[in-house]
Amino acid sequence: MLKTVLYAGRVGNVLGIETSCDETAAAVVDESFHVLSSVVESSIDQHRAFGGVVPELAGRAHVTTIASVIRRALDEAGLDPRAPDLEGIAVTSGPGLVGSLLVGLSTAKALALVWDVPFAGVNHLEGHLFAPLLESNGLEWPLMTLLVSGGHSLIVLQRAPGEHEVLGETIDDAAGEAYDKVARWLGLGYPGGPEIDRLANEGSPGALKLPVSMIGEDFDFSFSGLKTAVVRATERHPDVAIPDVAASFQFALCEQLLRKLRQALERYDVNGVSLAGGVAANSALRVGVTQLAREFGVASHLPTMAMCTDNAAMIAAAGLYRLRASGPSELNLSARPNWQLADVT
Ligand code: KG4
Ligand code: ZN
Repeated sequence: MLKTVLYAGRVGNVLGIETSCDETAAAVVDESFHVLSSVVESSIDQHRAFGGVVPELAGRAHVTTIASVIRRALDEAGLDPRAPDLEGIAVTSGPGLVGSLLVGLSTAKALALVWDVPFAGVNHLEGHLFAPLLESNGLEWPLMTLLVSGGHSLIVLQRAPGEHEVLGETIDDAAGEAYDKVARWLGLGYPGGPEIDRLANEGSPGALKLPVSMIGEDFDFSFSGLKTAVVRATERHPDVAIPDVAASFQFALCEQLLRKLRQALERYDVNGVSLAGGVAANSALRVGVTQLAREFGVASHLPTMAMCTDNAAMIAAAGLYRLRASGPSELNLSARPNWQLADVT
């Protein structure tokens, strides 16, 4: 599948390492993008009481967990942990929490030195874009991808693996962040997305009139006005049932995502639509994207839950591409907490 082999090293498996937020993950992917192992440990239980990820706690959790997670990933892939047969190591080097990124990056460098294999720093968002490759046979490019998570909301045109153009992104909150903030306002747990999604299916989407922000003809999103509108509406109507608030909010948020996606599909000729990121687990969004794809006569690629959320298999996949297309990273590579997808080359 990857035709250009610019890096002339050992050909084969790539170990992926992901520590950009609250998941400590390691995985082994082979050169045909088969996932040989994928281990994910989350520190989310430590963050729940705070209503969001606490960077210092996340960093400490990575330090205590990373060695055993990598060991398990190698064992499950059937590789010798003392000298695994690897083409390289791929590690998320940004964007994310700097203290968390540094744990994965330092570990990857140490292993690269000890095992004498190349390593590549990978952009976490580019990792999400590679997730469909690990699950869908016969993926055809160009692909239009809606990448929506707790930290990002982007519409990306992928012309080929690794060749992407960011068409639009959020100008304020990310979609998942809006879910989490509204959930917090409603007194629901963290993360709020799954709970709002569940409650929304019991409520009426027309109960509250909430704005669908479109901010012009471009592909950018805005969710902070919607969040404020939920607060105002529930203050005005204190008796409104929580499932009705959840359904109204979910409708307005997904409507904005889907309208922008529709505009992008009208403008660009693609062969498929894909979803990525934690919010890709949302039931209404999945139905909406499936319908849109059918309407435009293109394939839809909806990742499984394990591939929507953060994992290291997608990092290994992106790393395999980067190692071959761009070559290994230098050992003095630093973490880039604000690394934009548009700046990936
Ligand atoms: O990609 P992810 O695991 O982590 C990053 O943000 O990188 O995404 C987590 C986000 C959280 O904001 C969570 O509330 C949201 O994804 N989420 C959902 C659903 N499941 C998770 N949002 C809406 N509906 C869901 N079913
Ligand atoms: Zn992510």
